[in-house]
Amino acid sequence: MDVREALYTTRAMRRVTPEPIPMDAQERILDAAVRAPSGGNTQNWRFMLVDSPEVKARLAPLYQQAIAGLWTGYYKDRIDSALAAPDTPESKSMLAVQKSAQWLADHFEEVPLYLFGFSSDPGGSSIYPAMWSAQLAARAEGIGSSLTQALAFFDGETREILGVPSDETWYIAGTVSFGYPTGKWGVAQRQPARDVSFRNGWGQPVGWDTEGPLWP
Ligand SMILES: Cc1cc2nc3c(=O)[nH]c(=O)nc-3n(C[C@H](O)[C@H](O)[C@H](O)COP(=O)(O)O)c2cc1C
Repeated sequence: MDVREALYTTRAMRRVTPEPIPMDAQERILDAAVRAPSGGNTQNWRFMLVDSPEVKARLAPLYQQAIAGLWTGYYKDRIDSALAAPDTPESKSMLAVQKSAQWLADHFEEVPLYLFGFSSDPGGSSIYPAMWSAQLAARAEGIGSSLTQALAFFDGETREILGVPSDETWYIAGTVSFGYPTGKWGVAQRQPARDVSFRNGWGQPVGWDTEGPLWP
């Protein structure tokens, strides 16, 4: 697959089928992920694949509680505003994200594969390139993915379920769900680069007028 196609169409693909991800595809995804950069090339990461129905069944209630907490906490104001004016583009986007994220929570156990990323760097900056590479590599296999950090709300419980050693400092940086999509791939909708970028000084125009996307 063309690298630009992967960059433009790797969306948060949460609605997936229960079809298992073949082991060779999993191997290619992680083999690509560990090519990612890390500060000083320390590669201070560990990865854990989770496909066990028993482990997923233990994680699911935690994930469901975490997502419910997001709707009543962190995202409450945005959701309330979106419900009050549901026809604006921002509201539609917010409500679509909520619906899709809730789907993942409701179907947590049916999703065939999860990847947990662990970092010894609390900020996690040295592992997110690898997590994103895993998502791009999955895209090249026709496999959808979505990153979530919601299990961080239940860090202790999650670590216990996954058997993360308590004598080492490994932070759970995030979880990526994987599966074959039920929907179609499309170009990610974002604010135009020109509206969120400057040149040589804060607030200075970046130098082009195009809105994008510039692919295909
Ligand atoms: C740091 C980070 C945390 C995220 N946390 C969650 C999450 O807890 N639950 C979820 O369903 N999606 C989560 N996402 C996925 C975003 O919601 C998604 O990337 C965004 O809505 C854009 O989706 P799109 O590419 O389909 O347009 C997270 C993404 C990032 C980068």
